[in-house]
Amino acid sequence: MVSRVKTVAFSGIEALGVDVQVQVLPTGKQEIVIVGLPDKTVGESRERIRACFHAIGLSLPYTRISVNLAPADVTKEGTHYDLPITLGILMEIGVLKELELSPYLVIGELGLDGTLAPISGVLPAAIHAVEHGLGIICPEVCGPEAAWGGDLQILAPFNIVHLMNHFKGKQILTQPKPILSEMRPTGPNLKDIKGQESAKRVLEIAAAGGHNMLMIGPPGSGKSMLASRLPGILPPLEPREALEVTMIHSIAGKLPDGKLIRSRPFRDPHHSSSLPSLVGGGVKSQPGEISLAHQGVLFLDELPEFKRSTLESLRQPLESGKVTIARANSHVTYPSRFQLIAAMNPCKCGYLDDTARSCGRAPKCSVDYQGRISGPIFDRIDLHIEVPEVCISKINEPGNGESSEVIAQRVRAARAIQNERAGVLNSLSDGEALDEILHLNQDAKDLLGNVIKKIKFSARGYTRLLRVSRTIADLEQSDSITKAHISEAISYRRLYFK
Ligand SMILES: Nc1ncnc2c1ncn2[C@@H]1O[C@H](COP(=O)(O)OP(=O)(O)O)[C@@H](O)[C@H]1O
Ligand SMILES: [Mg+2]
Repeated sequence: MVSRVKTVAFSGIEALGVDVQVQVLPTGKQEIVIVGLPDKTVGESRERIRACFHAIGLSLPYTRISVNLAPADVTKEGTHYDLPITLGILMEIGVLKELELSPYLVIGELGLDGTLAPISGVLPAAIHAVEHGLGIICPEVCGPEAAWGGDLQILAPFNIVHLMNHFKGKQILTQPKPILSEMRPTGPNLKDIKGQESAKRVLEIAAAGGHNMLMIGPPGSGKSMLASRLPGILPPLEPREALEVTMIHSIAGKLPDGKLIRSRPFRDPHHSSSLPSLVGGGVKSQPGEISLAHQGVLFLDELPEFKRSTLESLRQPLESGKVTIARANSHVTYPSRFQLIAAMNPCKCGYLDDTARSCGRAPKCSVDYQGRISGPIFDRIDLHIEVPEVCISKINEPGNGESSEVIAQRVRAARAIQNERAGVLNSLSDGEALDEILHLNQDAKDLLGNVIKKIKFSARGYTRLLRVSRTIADLEQSDSITKAHISEAISYRRLYFK
């Protein structure tokens, strides 16, 4: 006889159905043989399964146990195959019945004592189960996460004995409930920042239209302060976005307590980050920082200090909102629609415009330093601004700037206009859809005509300029784009004037 248990393999954030087929052969020496493209982590299941049988006082059959993970052409990674394989063996030796397990998809890692350890990817697995009319069996700690998958029956036992008792009717498991994560406490507030009115204005525009932004300024001028305050003026995630962001964190094993994420992510990887940690992939395929920042903010501080190859790898995700990673025998795609906020000093020493403090190599050093970032990367950033140092006397004054809450309201209103008009943020509209929403008045068209003659924009840079103008008009609740909106947007592409 062959016993079958349903489980999943992961490709990107999608779960693919996998059939775990277990057969205890009548002969052969005692061993568990797993086939069907298992990687090393799956191979290690054997030891955990042996120990678990010992812990619960059952003996494994004294013959060969064959396990096939079908379809055999999909690579199987992860530790979540422990539980389906174990349940398959328990079915083979008559401890569990097929009828009991057939309505469920099963995932879980075993401890040596038979407890079930948390695993990644429970939410996508639960969504897959709902789509196939199944329930799910997963570790107790993952139960609340599975509950976000939809309307499905969940068995979330603490250990394997607990599950066996449930099927025997001795200890009935209760259905776990979905838990929401707390909204992020408002975080640092923009009103802490003294002065810097123009930088705050640009931050508001970036938030309103979802635009990428680069801040250039000397050390200590408040660039990191400004960036860390962006999530505080962004609206919370929409329900559909929340599910997607939670799935990515689930696959990456970074979901605290299985709660649904509701605040926009803010990721700030260090400039020494490796390519796989930033864009994803690696030995065990994992989403990188750019995917963990999906629907949120990716803050790259000290931009020129990142390796050039690492920065160049952001070009495709910045345009397409997803990243495709080639593996040995397949491709994996993760969503990565992030908003890039970058910061840099104008030169290596940082004090380019301050003759008293700049090094002897100024201004040549700034050309070298800024040259570390390629044109195509600069071109993908809609807003470039200078953040000069605030004078010390201003820092001592009591702050009277607007609070994040007030700015967040304007951002929300501008986003509502965009959603109603086109269903997407201005930073994502393109081609004919962009032409349709522009509504340039005659003065604005004349100004643009003159500007194009003087400044050499790339087609991409020009499109981004139009998108920013649209957002500035939306913040003013103006249907048409005026000359003032265009000139403000042009002033935020200062790197073109260098
Ligand atoms: N505009 C400002 N208002 C209040 N404090 C400031 C301001 N600019 C800088 N600071 C102070 O300087 C510190 C360094 O700022 P930071 O944002 O890290 O600078 P940068 O990233 O530009 O090097 C902050 O922690 C804050 O104490
Ligand atoms: Mg900084």
